[in-house]
Amino acid sequence: MKKENNRIKVKDLLVSENLGKEVHVKGWVRTKRGSRKIGFIALNDGSTIHNIQIVVDFPEFDEQTIKLITTGSCLGVKGTLMKSEGHGQNVEIHAGQIEVYGTADPDSYPLQKKGHTLEYLREIAHLRFRTNTFGAVFRVRHTMAYAIHKYFNDNGFYYLHTPIITGSDAEGAGEMFRVSVLDHLDPPKTSEGKVDYEKDFFGKETNLTVSGQLEAELGALALSEVYTFGPTFRAENSNTPRHLAEFWMIEPEMAFYDINDNMDLAEDFLKYIVRYALENSPDDLEFLNNMYDKELLERLKFVVEKEFVRADYTEAIEVLKKADAKFEFPVKWGSDLQAEHERYLVEKHYKRPVILTDYPKEIKAFYMKQNTDGKTIRAMDVLFPRLGEIIGGSQREEDYDKLKRRINELKIPEKELWWYLETRKFGTAPHSGFGLGFERMVQFVTGMSNIRDVIPFPRTPRNAEF
Ligand code: 4AD
Ligand code: MG
Repeated sequence: MKKENNRIKVKDLLVSENLGKEVHVKGWVRTKRGSRKIGFIALNDGSTIHNIQIVVDFPEFDEQTIKLITTGSCLGVKGTLMKSEGHGQNVEIHAGQIEVYGTADPDSYPLQKKGHTLEYLREIAHLRFRTNTFGAVFRVRHTMAYAIHKYFNDNGFYYLHTPIITGSDAEGAGEMFRVSVLDHLDPPKTSEGKVDYEKDFFGKETNLTVSGQLEAELGALALSEVYTFGPTFRAENSNTPRHLAEFWMIEPEMAFYDINDNMDLAEDFLKYIVRYALENSPDDLEFLNNMYDKELLERLKFVVEKEFVRADYTEAIEVLKKADAKFEFPVKWGSDLQAEHERYLVEKHYKRPVILTDYPKEIKAFYMKQNTDGKTIRAMDVLFPRLGEIIGGSQREEDYDKLKRRINELKIPEKELWWYLETRKFGTAPHSGFGLGFERMVQFVTGMSNIRDVIPFPRTPRNAEF
């Protein structure tokens, strides 16, 4: 790859053995300190959590230029790479030439040397990338995205791009955002006085997708193993540290997998991502461990090493009923588990990640494979420490008649799903899949307690500023 102006990244300089050589580095000033004669600038270019120290012999430089070098300003520095005598670094650059690309007025630059709260940094999300914390989080996020594609590619899965605009509201995973070009103050009306979506862009009602699963199933029933990795949208008014209105989901879908194969894949996949992050982002994870969560690295290693517990929903309900804990939401067979219940199972009872299966059919989606008891379906949720549910999935109902009956029972408009049903009519196959919320996974690996701090520009109720 061509490098512009022979610039060397800080990450590479810090391990360089080219002592005495001329180097060119560019980045943003984190701090500047020193006396009248000599200055030390900590420069960071985002390639690593670490800064490179620039040593400046002040009398050799124009005083006006030196004044412009303040926290937040952007510089290009040419100089000699030297062994550092100081603490905390092996090498430093003795500046020969400094070019100031952009100044940052110290009186108005919102990032000061002192630490800022994560809440404050959310209000300046356009600048928060320049902090150690967000540099680390977004480098780890990238590493994990890469690991996910690598895992599936290495295991023979195809990356399938499912649509973001969808014409079906069938999945029922959550409230949807409407996509429309109609004049919302004066929309065309049908003779019954309803909005006439026939006149809209697609000639029907459309929304932003809540999941790529149904389309991924169509792919799996020909390509065998596929996965999606894309944005999904839910218009729920959930103001929690685990919910976003726009989040990224990874959804593998596999022909010929039953629920046990599905669980094996989920466990192996999650462990792979965590291991990959531990191996490839050690500096960033160590920083996050020391800064926010002293048990982070231990927790990550624990998940990689320990076998996940597998239990069914009915057993989990029994455990929760006997629990010596006060829950806000009641525990009763048939109701959905809340985060507090999930966390109790993982953190207090089983003391490791848990995969729960065989939920009551009433609290899960129409497409899940029905068990012979008539009450439960072959669902699986993977529950993690601190978060609760991180994966939701199931074996899918492959029987045309059973699937159609369930669709009708739930009064889902059958004609909207004609294409989905046809795959059960022509060459149907047992198959399974699951969805991993990418931000929840990034939360787990970085230890950040709020999901808004692991996506560059979070979308939550009343918040779409950047
Ligand atoms: O359990 P969910 O709703 O499952 C599905 O959408 C299925 N179609 C998946 C499949 O079988 N292919 O969502 C899957 C995961 C959850 O376990 C959670 O990690 C994450 O997506 N998730 C959210 N993450 C952030 N904000 C939200 N509002 C989320 N809702 C779900
Ligand atoms: Mg779920």
